[in-house]
Amino acid sequence: MKRFHRLWQLSLFSFILAAITGFLYRYGMLYPLPELFHFANIRHAHSHLMFFNWVCPPLMILMIQHLSKNGKIDGLKSFKWCLSVMILLGFLSYPFFLFYGYQPVSIGSANLPLAAIISGLVMITWYWFAWLYFKLEERDSASVAHMMFDAALLVLLISSLGAWGVSIFQFTTIDSPQVSSAMTHFFLSVFTEGWTILGVLGVIWAKAGSVEFKPGTGWFWMPILFGSMMIFPFSLTQSLITPAMLYTAYAGLILIILSFSLNLYLLIKQKALKGFVGHTVFFLAALIIFFKLAAVLPNDIWPGEHSLRVLYLHVLLLGFFSLAIIELIHQNTPQWMKKSFTGSALLVILSLIMVSGYWPSVLVPPNIFFWLMVVAGLPVVAAVLLWIDTFRNQYH
Ligand code: HEM
Repeated sequence: MKRFHRLWQLSLFSFILAAITGFLYRYGMLYPLPELFHFANIRHAHSHLMFFNWVCPPLMILMIQHLSKNGKIDGLKSFKWCLSVMILLGFLSYPFFLFYGYQPVSIGSANLPLAAIISGLVMITWYWFAWLYFKLEERDSASVAHMMFDAALLVLLISSLGAWGVSIFQFTTIDSPQVSSAMTHFFLSVFTEGWTILGVLGVIWAKAGSVEFKPGTGWFWMPILFGSMMIFPFSLTQSLITPAMLYTAYAGLILIILSFSLNLYLLIKQKALKGFVGHTVFFLAALIIFFKLAAVLPNDIWPGEHSLRVLYLHVLLLGFFSLAIIELIHQNTPQWMKKSFTGSALLVILSLIMVSGYWPSVLVPPNIFFWLMVVAGLPVVAAVLLWIDTFRNQYH
């Protein structure tokens, strides 16, 4: 029995559940849903389960795998406990987000914001993981992967400050939706641009091995770490941000572009990932850089615009992140299964490009929202196949 097999199965199951929730959102745009469902809550349930159970545990499992590559590591049981509690809490938060969102839930005479409380507990399990990770002594601190992991975890902890800020802010007398929104977006952008990108680059570097790079290895991660903290103003209402915030956000984007491009160039040169899935991961990484360049160049593109934001997030999270994770974990799976998953993710991304407002309207198929719904169901089918495969093959 491989060490993290069950946890990986649960993580993949979370992806399936969260993807069905995404499908439900698309279904609800065309057909009536029972009254207990609200779009905002369906979106919260989808995105939180993806973040809590699909993004964090697999990255952490791959990190521990890399640390233990050269032998046994101390406290493997503690890591397992930590990840199990993390995943359990992620599942527990799901029904509360789905049916109540951030609204308080009545329990007896008390009204408690249960989704927010459970989210706080999930963040505590991130601290627990970071504590276990950083106290490991037998670490090979020379590897690039290692540096990226350290930076990724640090940035995950920093991102959580934004989320705590929102909760604490609710109890103050200050009534400013802008401050609350700024903190929420600080969390989101540091989580996605910092933790996710550094984490994925780290696990790909772990596969690629070492690298000769003279100017200093800080270039691999520092610009992404600082850049991810600077770009959140793009998600705020454009008319509300000051010139200083805007230039800081542009500087953050440029930092991320530089470091991400450097990583991508060297990883492609080392042929770190191969085959259709691996090349698609690199292609999507290049697309992410292209998006960022488009936001920096003088034009009318505002990255925070809803349809562009949803498209960008899915290129990054469903595309770049999910495909890299599947490629790295499912090494013995038949290629056609991984290719089906890749194809389904690419179709979701293509369908989102079509509704982004930047696709020629003559090329948008009739009944586009119907097709958007159909395509949203495809990753569910592809992920179920991968999940069934985990009962035949052992992974991690
Ligand atoms: C599996 C296929 C997926 C489908 C069908 C899907 C579908 C959706 C839908 C319908 C929305 C709401 C869009 C809107 O507000 O107009 C959404 C939002 C979102 N999804 Fe997904 N999604 C998928 C995968 C993922 C993955 C893998 C992640 C993260 C790991 C993710 C993270 C998010 C986030 C963070 C949002 C909120 C965006 C925002 O409003 O700020 N999704 N998704």
